Amino acid sequence: MICSSISLCNYRNISLETVSFSEGVNVLFGDNAQGKSNILEGIYFFARGRSFRGAREREMIRFGEKQAQLSLTFQKEDAQYPVTLEADLPHTGKKVLRRGGARLSGVREMIGSFRAVLFCPLHLSLVGGGPALRRSFLDIALSQLYPAYLDSLSRYNRILAQRNALIKSGSVTDAAVWEVYARQLSQLGADIAARRCAYMQGLERHVADIFAGMTVGRETPCLVYQSGALPEAADPEEVRSAGEKRLFDALTGSIEREIRYGATLYGVHKDDISIRLNDREARSYASQGQQRSLALAMKLAEGEMAKTVGGEYPVFLLDDVLSELDGQRREFILRSLTGRQIIVTSCEPAYFHTGAADAVRMLHVQDGKVLLPENERTQM
Ligand SMILES: Nc1ncnc2c1ncn2[C@@H]1O[C@H](COP(=O)(O)OP(=O)(O)OP(=O)(O)O)[C@@H](O)[C@H]1O
Ligand SMILES: [Mg+2]
Repeated sequence: MICSSISLCNYRNISLETVSFSEGVNVLFGDNAQGKSNILEGIYFFARGRSFRGAREREMIRFGEKQAQLSLTFQKEDAQYPVTLEADLPHTGKKVLRRGGARLSGVREMIGSFRAVLFCPLHLSLVGGGPALRRSFLDIALSQLYPAYLDSLSRYNRILAQRNALIKSGSVTDAAVWEVYARQLSQLGADIAARRCAYMQGLERHVADIFAGMTVGRETPCLVYQSGALPEAADPEEVRSAGEKRLFDALTGSIEREIRYGATLYGVHKDDISIRLNDREARSYASQGQQRSLALAMKLAEGEMAKTVGGEYPVFLLDDVLSELDGQRREFILRSLTGRQIIVTSCEPAYFHTGAADAVRMLHVQDGKVLLPENERTQM
């Protein structure tokens, strides 16, 4: 998949700009606070349907303006024509999304058409950080690949929020009501857990291959999805069938404790990925460098999984991550990503003069404007 161009109008610090990208490595470089990450955020919006910086849509509108407009053109390998996705983000009212000029019903209809893997410094804590980061890694990857996963997850989160509100209000004592919630959450939860479990099995194989290529010793990584739905479960189908009953029992059997605690204590919103190196918990035993290498391998593996499922590589978006890595890992990542499109932001253009990556397109970002590469400027 190739992101050919993005146009941004009244988006963050960009008043009006169109940026075209080449099929290989594209570097958005420049000083701090010029708009590099803003451009990447704009591209990723079309993959995820929202900002990767957790910003609300209103925050993405240029200060003092009424609406931001984004338009992204991408080309799929097997398609004859490029596709254009558009988004209007108004200050008040709902956003409008379009594909090929036709209005979409919402984010659900858009997600999955343009696929991207984002890698930013936060992801370097994938191994050492908290479980929410790892769940979100799974949710974002799976949502882009399987619309049914996104459906289950949205419904699960909605019902969970309702159940939590009821628990807090303390107004329901009828067991039948709790049973209805338990039934819904356990069905959806078992589906989510089974899909995450299957994904992790595929991902683990890629992580092991990539990690082995990083020359960081002979440790073997082992990544297993850990679900309260079915601890120690290896088989996704088993998770689906046995997990539902287990979750149902846990949810119906613990309501008094949950009322005391004030929230739902059991379910896939508590799950995690166990990451081990040579059979030891990586979070506690692996070195900082090994943890980062594992995180890097997980992100690269996410791209491999997208290719396995979707038939082609997604676009790789790297926000500021290269400056966080040492020279060896930087080389590794650029070497590993040849033959794929990468759009990377960096304050340090010198990283790309090493010859590691072929045909690098250097785009200088300055005060919300993008200056064309020198060779293209002279042609005009
Ligand atoms: N809604 C907005 N309207 C106008 N400007 C904004 C808006 N939101 C953010 N900005 C500004 O955009 C500028 C550029 O932000 P961005 O995160 O893209 O910088 P960057 O080039 O990635 O810098 P760094 O190298 O520090 O990561 C910031 O100065 C920020 O204040
Ligand atoms: Mg930035």
